[in-house]
Parts: sequence; structure tokens; C-alpha cells
Amino acid sequence: MIVSIDGPAGSGKSTVADILANKLNFMHFNSGSLYRAVACYLIANNLKMDENVDLLSKLDLKVEFIDGVQHVFANGTDFTSHLRDNEVSSASSYVSKFKPIRQLVDDCQRKFVSNNNVVIEGRDIGSFVFPNAEFKFYLDCSVEVRAERRLKEEQAKGTNIDIEEIKSQIIERDKRDKERPIAPLVVPKNATIINST
Ligand code: DC
Repeated sequence: MIVSIDGPAGSGKSTVADILANKLNFMHFNSGSLYRAVACYLIANNLKMDENVDLLSKLDLKVEFIDGVQHVFANGTDFTSHLRDNEVSSASSYVSKFKPIRQLVDDCQRKFVSNNNVVIEGRDIGSFVFPNAEFKFYLDCSVEVRAERRLKEEQAKGTNIDIEEIKSQIIERDKRDKERPIAPLVVPKNATIINST
């Protein structure tokens, strides 16, 4: 069974997906982490995205659950501890606009989901990747509240960043995710919309 949760950055998808997956005894699959792993590989190897689409689209991308935690490997390297680095957030949104990268991530997701019951979160899950998901949700939330949540997360990590900078990063990422030509962030057909502000 597939339960999809889509929505913009910081709308609370991960928190909700985690609680729901625990209650249902399903896997919580975070599709954004796959784009983040591609971005990590790019940064770790000092590659320029536009010049390396071909190489990156052939990455060996693997998801494994270790002690209930989703780990993502790219060409054998476990990037899990770097997925949430601040520079990775913006880079992942950038890499996600390239069709071959979306294809790579989609294949990896489909392979995993074919064998498991999942709560899967992302931007295009109920709309493009699994339009026949049994239950579809779309979370939405004001930019102000999302920025405040992210600020708390960053402060807990000891990052020195100001709320206005976070707000502008969120606005830029929303714009990129909603306006990209392939599988943009939209409310999926028949999704239940939840305002998580
Ligand atoms: O959910 P997240 O913030 O970890 O996702 C990081 C980026 O990956 C996001 O800005 C856009 C992209 N993404 C996507 O294009 N499609 C998905 N299903 C999930 C994430």
C-alpha cells in the first residue's frame, strides 16, 4: 500500500510521515533524500551539475533501512549524515530539475515500493510517481511558519543563520520546485489538503 504526502519544504511532511508510518507499521520513505544524495555526491566530488548530468544520471543510487532509519548510498558511499546540510538543500532542488536525475530517482523509488508498504513523502509522489496511491495528502503552510521551524532546527544544530535568509531560501526553493517543467510541485488529483500552518 502507498500513502503519499506531498508539499513544499518545511510543511511538516517528515514529521507527519514518521508518525503515520510508525502507527501503520509501514516504511517511511523520504524521496527528497534521494535528490539530496545526488547533490551530496556532486558537492563531495566537486562536480558542476550542468556538465555532469550524464555521469550523475548513471549513479548507483540505493536505499537501505538500517535500524529503522533510511540510509541513501550513491556509488557505495553512505551520504545519510550529510543529507540535511544547508548547502545540500538548495543544491538538491537544483539537481531535481534535470530529467535524467528524476528518472534515476523514480526508478529507485519504484523498485523499493514494489516490495513494501510505504508512507512516501516528496513533491511529485501523488501526482507523477504514484498517481494511483491509495491515500494522498498535500500539506501546505505559510512561509513565515516554515521559516520559524527551520530556524529552530538550524539553531539546534548550532548554525548561525538569520530568519530573513531562511525565508528567502524557502521562497526560492518553492519557486524552483513549483515552476520546473518536469513533475513540478502541484496538489495531486484527489489529494486531501491539510493546512499545517
Ligand atoms: O523534501 P526535501 O526538502 O528533502 O527535498 C529536497 C529537494 O528535492 C526539493 O527541493 C525538490 C526535490 N524533490 C523533488 O523534486 N521531488 C520529490 N519527490 C522530492 C524532492
